[in-house]
Parts: sequence; C-alpha cells; structure tokens
Amino acid sequence: MFEAVLFDLDGVITDTAEYHYRAWRALAEEIGIDGVDREFNEQLKGVARDDSLKKILALGNKTVSADEFQKLMAQKNDNYVTMIESVSPADVYPGILQLLKDLRAASIKIALASASKNGPALLDKMQLTDYFDAIADPAKVAASKPAPDIFIAAADGVSVSADKCIGLEDSIAGITAIKDSGALPVGVGRAEDLGTDIALVPDTSKLTLDYLKETWAARRG
Ligand code: BG6
Ligand code: MG
Repeated sequence: MFEAVLFDLDGVITDTAEYHYRAWRALAEEIGIDGVDREFNEQLKGVARDDSLKKILALGNKTVSADEFQKLMAQKNDNYVTMIESVSPADVYPGILQLLKDLRAASIKIALASASKNGPALLDKMQLTDYFDAIADPAKVAASKPAPDIFIAAADGVSVSADKCIGLEDSIAGITAIKDSGALPVGVGRAEDLGTDIALVPDTSKLTLDYLKETWAARRG
C-alpha cells in the first residue's frame, strides 16, 4: 500500500489554475503577445513563475532586460494575488476535504508538492493547512516541474520513499515530475492533455481513498 499522497494545489485542490491562466493572459496581452489561449496554457500549468514568463516571451519572440523580467513577474503575481483574495473553504474542489479526512483516518501521510509560492497562503485561506504533514518549499528545490525535485522534497518531508507515494496532478509538467520521482501519478483531467498511460479522473469528486487504493493495487500491487 502507498504510505503518502503528494498533492499538487492549483487545479487539484481548488480552481486557482484558472486564475493563473487569466493573470498570464492579461499580462501577455498587455505586452502585445497573442496566443496565450487555453491550449497554450496547458504548457504553463504546473510551471514555475519564471519559467512560465520565459515560455510566454518565447511565444512572442520577445526579449526583455533582467529588470523588466522581474517587473513582469511581479505584475502577474500582484494581479493573481488580487484574484485569490476571496478564496475560502467554499472553494475547495469536490471530494478533496473528504479525501484529506479519509487519508488522515487511515494514517496515510499528506504532503503538498506545489510549484506555487502562494501555496501556503492558499491552504490557509481554505483552512486546509492542518491536514498537511509537510509542505515542500518550491523556493528550495534545484529544478521546478517537469523535474521531479518538488515531489521528492514532499516525500522526504513526510519521511516516505517516493516509490511508496501517489502524486495527484492536473498538469503534464507535474505528471512527468511524478513519474520521474518514482511515485505513482493520478491525473485530474483529460487523456489528450495528460496522456493515456496513467490513471485519470475527470474531476476531483472521483478522487476517493477507495479509488486510490484500487489504482495502487492495479498498478503497483
Ligand atoms: C503552479 C501553477 O502550481 O504554480 C502555475 O500551476 C504557477 O500556473 C506556479 O505558475 C507558480 O506559482 P506562483 O504562485 O509561485 O507564481
Ligand atoms: Mg496544478
């Protein structure tokens, strides 16, 4: 059996993936870059703030100074932080609170493996912090998703070997990271975006402890 579940946050615990998208799209439009649509956004999901901006600038064939780069990241984040101001426990995706409760009752460790520096504040706003045994710090890992580092750090945080963990993700970068960490990926989303070779749920209401147990038994048991 698995001993820990490593959670992505944006797009898995709540709908903040949508706010990241809107904030990047607004920034891109402001600097005259077209094409940050939902399809392109699949490449941004799970990706760190600086890497996301690099992808957007590359899309627009645009280069900026180091100072301007910092300013643009701050501008996007300020806009995003305004968007998430009113996030509350009511915004937790269906099934997630029950899953956290069931994992605790089963003594399965819970860790956060989010690339977002806003992750801890969001958990607080949703009153979920107490469910987490560890929160991996994205500022402290050498490489961000699709590198496996944040999932390895999250597993380390709960003293469980990554190959005894399930990782939950809504992004292709995150799924790649989970696979390379040795954990078992479960995707939230579509096979077109996340691949046909992993366990997938269409939405979080299907993410029950029983489903995770069945998936583990089928793929690792
Ligand atoms: C990830 C999101 O969780 O965090 C990305 O999926 C985001 O869209 C990344 O860019 C970094 O977030 P933040 O809040 O540190 O800019
Ligand atoms: Mg995500």
